[in-house]
Amino acid sequence: MKFFIDTANLADIQEAQDMGVLDGVTTNPSLMAKEGITGTANILAHYKKICNVVPGHISAEVIATDYKGIIEEGEKLAALHPQIVVKLPMIADGVKACKYFSDKGVKTNVTLVFSAGQALLAAKAGATYVSPFIGRLDDISTNGLGLISEIRLIYDNYGFETEILAASVRHVMHVIDCAKLGSDVMTGPLSAIKGLLKHPLTDSGLAKFLEDYKNGND
Ligand code: E4P
Repeated sequence: MKFFIDTANLADIQEAQDMGVLDGVTTNPSLMAKEGITGTANILAHYKKICNVVPGHISAEVIATDYKGIIEEGEKLAALHPQIVVKLPMIADGVKACKYFSDKGVKTNVTLVFSAGQALLAAKAGATYVSPFIGRLDDISTNGLGLISEIRLIYDNYGFETEILAASVRHVMHVIDCAKLGSDVMTGPLSAIKGLLKHPLTDSGLAKFLEDYKNGND
């Protein structure tokens, strides 16, 4: 399972990269705004900075919602750096643009996916990644993880190569459940990645080992 970090915060990205377990980064316009990165030039420069920290796929989202605008914007993003994955909204023009980019060999991530039907369309259009937002489905009292299972079944039935990128991951149990269900990738905050480290028996076991070593070597 690949681990992506879902943030535009360079310190968090660097920390996850330094752990040695990071495979890529996802961003979105809200995450950019949260870091105070505004204006096209600054946003593009920030994507480049992220590419220089993590040697994996970096999703950069288009703002345009019409086909022509999506293509123009997506081409600019793709030209920025070979690691860039063009992130496209799950709307008719986004799906059409996905087909255009996949035919050209440009990597894509279809975002804002909330149903198996949408995921099927993204795969048909040749998406590199499909991003089902499990946390936001949970937020409205529906079953986010159930969607991962449905997509896994459908993709396996037909051998679709689109990778399932579980998005809107909020905590450690989301990561573990996505791994059990065969999600290819998960993208979450640094806390969800670091949270995997934690177990009280690890902490108390290590403390005891160190204490015994100290007592035997004093
Ligand atoms: C995915 O690519 C999105 O950036 C993200 O996972 C959305 O997560 P949120 O629902 O926590 O905003």
